Amino acid sequence: MNTTPFFLDTETASYVIGEKALESSVKQFDKYPRYVVLVDENTREHCLPVFQQNLPDITINDVICIESGEEKKNLDQVLFIWNELTRLNVDRDALMIHLGGGVLTDIGGFVAATYKRGIDFANVPTTLLGMVDAAIGGKTGIDFGKFKNQVGLFVDPVSVIIDPLFLKTLADKHWQSGFAEVLKYGLIIDHELWQWLYGKNYREIDYWNKIIVRAARDKINIVRHDFKEKGVRKNLNFGHTIGHAFESFFLKMNKPVTHGQAIAAGMICESWLSEQRMDMECSKREEIVEMIDRNFPRLPVSENDLPTLMELMRQDKKVREGKLHFSLLKRMGKAVHDKEVSSGLVLKSIEFYLHNS
Ligand SMILES: NC(=O)c1ccc[n+]([C@@H]2O[C@H](COP(=O)([O-])OP(=O)(O)OC[C@H]3O[C@@H](n4cnc5c(N)ncnc54)[C@H](O)[C@@H]3O)[C@@H](O)[C@H]2O)c1
Repeated sequence: MNTTPFFLDTETASYVIGEKALESSVKQFDKYPRYVVLVDENTREHCLPVFQQNLPDITINDVICIESGEEKKNLDQVLFIWNELTRLNVDRDALMIHLGGGVLTDIGGFVAATYKRGIDFANVPTTLLGMVDAAIGGKTGIDFGKFKNQVGLFVDPVSVIIDPLFLKTLADKHWQSGFAEVLKYGLIIDHELWQWLYGKNYREIDYWNKIIVRAARDKINIVRHDFKEKGVRKNLNFGHTIGHAFESFFLKMNKPVTHGQAIAAGMICESWLSEQRMDMECSKREEIVEMIDRNFPRLPVSENDLPTLMELMRQDKKVREGKLHFSLLKRMGKAVHDKEVSSGLVLKSIEFYLHNS
C-alpha cells in the first residue's frame, strides 16, 4: 500500500494530501514565530491531540475554540474570534491553523483574511467534506440573514494538509455528507472516480485514502485555473443551486440537514435538468438517481414548500438579472456552466424529486 503523501505547490497554496500528510508537513509550518489554532468543541477533543502527536515540533501558543454547527457560521462567531485575537495580542506574523470541518475553515479563513488586513492561515480539514472540498480553493465566509455564504472573500490558505487520520472519529452523517461532494467530482470531471464508486454505499468503502487524494486533486485542478470562479470553477456548482435552496430551507425551519444531504437532493434535480436541457441520456440520469438514492434518503419536502424553495433560489449568487443559471451535465464526467433555465423547468425538476423515488 502506498503511504507516501502527495505534495503539490500551486501559485498560492501548498498542499500535502494522503496518509501520513500531517507528520510529513513540518516544513509547511516551520517559519512562524507564533501559532494560533482554531478549533470547535469536537475538534478540540478529537483532533487537537492527533495534531499535536503528529507534529510534536510545533509549539501551539494559543487555542481559540468556537461553537460547532452551520447555525453558528455567523457574524457573532467572527466577532468572537476577532476579539480573542485582539485580546491575545496576535500579530500579523502569526499563523492561524484551522483544524476542523467546512464551517470552521470557512469562518476561520474569513477572520484570518480580515484581521489586521490579513494574516497567514493553514487549513487542516478534519471532515471528509473539508478534505475533498471546503478546505481547498480559498472560498471563505459566513451565512448572513437567511442566506448561505452571503458574506465572504476569496483568499487562499498558505497551506492545506489533508490527512485521513482525523476521520476515525467522524460521525456517520458527516461521512455521508462528504460523499455527496465526492460523487459530484465523478459526475462533473472524473468519470473514472464515478466508476470506482458506482453501485456502492459509502459505508462499504474501504479505500478512502485513494478517493480523498483523487477528489482533492480534482478540486485543486479546477480552482488553480479559475480562482475567482469566472468560468470552469462554476462547474463545481453542479447540484448546488437547488441544493443550497434545500439547505437554507431546512436551516430556516430549524431542522438543519447536512450540506451533503442537500447537495445530493440538488444533484437529483439538476440531473433531471441536464436530461431536459443538455440532452444527457435518460439512462445516465437514472444511473445518477439510483446511486444517490442508494446513499441518501429523500428530504422531507412537499408541494407546499415549492414557493419558498423558489424564492430562496432567486437569492442565489448564481442568479443574474433575475435569471437562473446552472452548471449541468452534458454526459458523465463532463459539466458545462452558465446554462440558463426557466423557473418553470426548475420547478418541474423539484417536482420530479418529490414524485420519482
Ligand atoms: N469553502 C468552500 O469551498 C466550501 C465547499 C463546500 C462546503 N463548504 C461549507 O462547509 C460546511 C460544511 O462542512 P462539514 O460538512 O465539514 O461540516 P462541519 O464543519 O459542520 O463539521 C461537521 C461536524 O463534525 C465535527 N467534526 C469535525 N471533524 C471531526 C472529527 N474528525 N471527529 C469528530 N467530529 C468532527 C464538527 O465539530 C461538526 O460538529 C458548510 O457550511 C458548507 O457551506 C464550503
